[in-house]
Amino acid sequence: MRNLIDIRDLSVKEIEELIAVADDIIENPEKYAEKCRHKKLATLFFEPSTRTRLSFEAAMYELGGNVLGFSEAQSSSAAKGESVADTVRTVSCYADIIAMRHPKEGAPLVASTASEVPIINAGDGGHNHPTQTLTDLLTIKRETGRLCNLTVGFCGDLKFGRTVHSLISALSRYTGIKIVLISPDELKLPGYIKEEALNANNIPYEQTTDLESVMPELDILYMTRVQRERFFNEEDYLRLKDSYILTPEKLKNAKQSLRILHPLPRVNEISREVDKDERACYFRQVRYGKYIRMALILMLLGVE
Ligand code: CP
Repeated sequence: MRNLIDIRDLSVKEIEELIAVADDIIENPEKYAEKCRHKKLATLFFEPSTRTRLSFEAAMYELGGNVLGFSEAQSSSAAKGESVADTVRTVSCYADIIAMRHPKEGAPLVASTASEVPIINAGDGGHNHPTQTLTDLLTIKRETGRLCNLTVGFCGDLKFGRTVHSLISALSRYTGIKIVLISPDELKLPGYIKEEALNANNIPYEQTTDLESVMPELDILYMTRVQRERFFNEEDYLRLKDSYILTPEKLKNAKQSLRILHPLPRVNEISREVDKDERACYFRQVRYGKYIRMALILMLLGVE
């Protein structure tokens, strides 16, 4: 039985296969409409979500399957003190596959030890978000035609931004990747990711606080929200929240081929005016999230 807890649970070849299936689903959705008939996906969301939960649910419906679950811990027996392990062991009696989001780092890994069906990590605290990474990789591939030979800038909250951690981990396995880390000093990428992903794979990277100075070299700009819910005090959040606000003015020196991604939700870090720029692809990225999750469900359920 396969789980997806960390993006490194998938080989580069398997990621390519998922992208190929997602591409085929986009071209031929009718081929997939009955693939999961009589299968059930459970979405266990102990933390808020719009895109991840609803795209998983839409994905399962488009495969002909059904969905059950909860969207907040308070409406589950977790509110009465039930453990993650017991919750998942119970739900695995009702569902064929489980997508789970939890505020605690490592909770989906714990869940996978108790579950009788595949567990998908739909985001665990400030740690990982592997299905967002699959979404990001599909977006980059469709927008640029490649996953190699790219200079990728990550801007904003690189400390708590789980989507950043997983995407850097994934991109570090491709050739010709250069990473540019743009953040305030307080929100720098954690040292363990620099060691395990960047240094271990000899990926060149630079760190800066100045977005505009590095803008001309970027092929991809991955903007992120400052993660208010992970801060220990509100004062620090208020001081750092508007560190970067992308505007048309700041894109003046960017490549015409630049692609701007954001996992969303957006708060203030990209001005609405940028949405009109063809280089802004964060809403196309949202759409791709459903297709890659369809491909992932098929893979983990072993459906041909
Ligand atoms: N990108 C993402 O995880 O969005 P949600 O929090 O809305 O699921």
